[in-house]
Amino acid sequence: MPGVVYLNGEFLPRERATLSVDDRGFIFGDGIYEVTRVVDGRLFEADRHMRRLFYGLRGISIEPGLSAEQIIDIHYRLIRENDLTKGEGYVYLQITRGAAPRTHYFPPAGTAATVFLSTSTFTPNRAQRETGATAVTYPDIRWSRCDLKTVNLLGAVLAKQQAVASGSLEAVFIRDGVITEGSHTNVFGVIDGELRTYPRSNYILPGITRDVVLELAIEEGVNVREIPILQTEIGRLEELFVTGTTSDVTPIVQLDGRPIGSGKPGPITRQLAAALDRRLYSTAPSPNPELAAAR
Ligand code: PDD
Repeated sequence: MPGVVYLNGEFLPRERATLSVDDRGFIFGDGIYEVTRVVDGRLFEADRHMRRLFYGLRGISIEPGLSAEQIIDIHYRLIRENDLTKGEGYVYLQITRGAAPRTHYFPPAGTAATVFLSTSTFTPNRAQRETGATAVTYPDIRWSRCDLKTVNLLGAVLAKQQAVASGSLEAVFIRDGVITEGSHTNVFGVIDGELRTYPRSNYILPGITRDVVLELAIEEGVNVREIPILQTEIGRLEELFVTGTTSDVTPIVQLDGRPIGSGKPGPITRQLAAALDRRLYSTAPSPNPELAAAR
């Protein structure tokens, strides 16, 4: 795990970064996070990540004390400090409501948010993306603001643990008889040649990879609709895949022990996986050319 992190205005070695035991992130899970992919030193879709971050912060009324541009600059400084200018990695960011005596209501005005960023190297699991992975279904026990990327991840933790304990990659949430998303991914399926994914709403995280894959599907001429896949339709799925910052497009070839389609990654999944790879590796556009030039 690379060594330099950012905490509340300082760049410092990870082992020297310490937090108050009164931090509301620790006590209440009262904060928002982001995970942004780094390819050869460039942030993938940084503007979209910043828009989602500020949507989440506004959604729970946290004032970060930094602009999106300043936060992007911190990302790039960490990328340089941690030698992530070649190869792959990601930046983790977490902003909490700060440290204050424990009250359920918000702390006094002027309590500074806690801002933490760190980096990690990352190796995509290419073999798994070729052969596909398995998943299990799990009841969507999460709250009803899944559109906010809060650090309160207990529903996701329990679901993913169940997946891992049963030898699977991912848990696919079922709420009211439909597939919503995965524990840390969005879910797409193909039925009758049509690509489907749960519509943008308060019941899913609007994944950045999901947005990009929806764009790519249109570019690639894939017939796509944002409508839920019913639990009763699982047996009719021709293809299934999950998307995410650290998952890209990963085919799911078995759900709850039953094969999906032919039991191999299907053609639409492969087409979109290849299109995403091209987007990731050929362009990975710098979010803001002026900022990039200033760096
Ligand atoms: N998780 N849905 C959920 C519940 C998620 O936690 C994530 C991301 C996604 C995919 O979003 P994106 O394409 O923007 O990564 C969907 C991150 C990676 C995590 O918790 O580590």
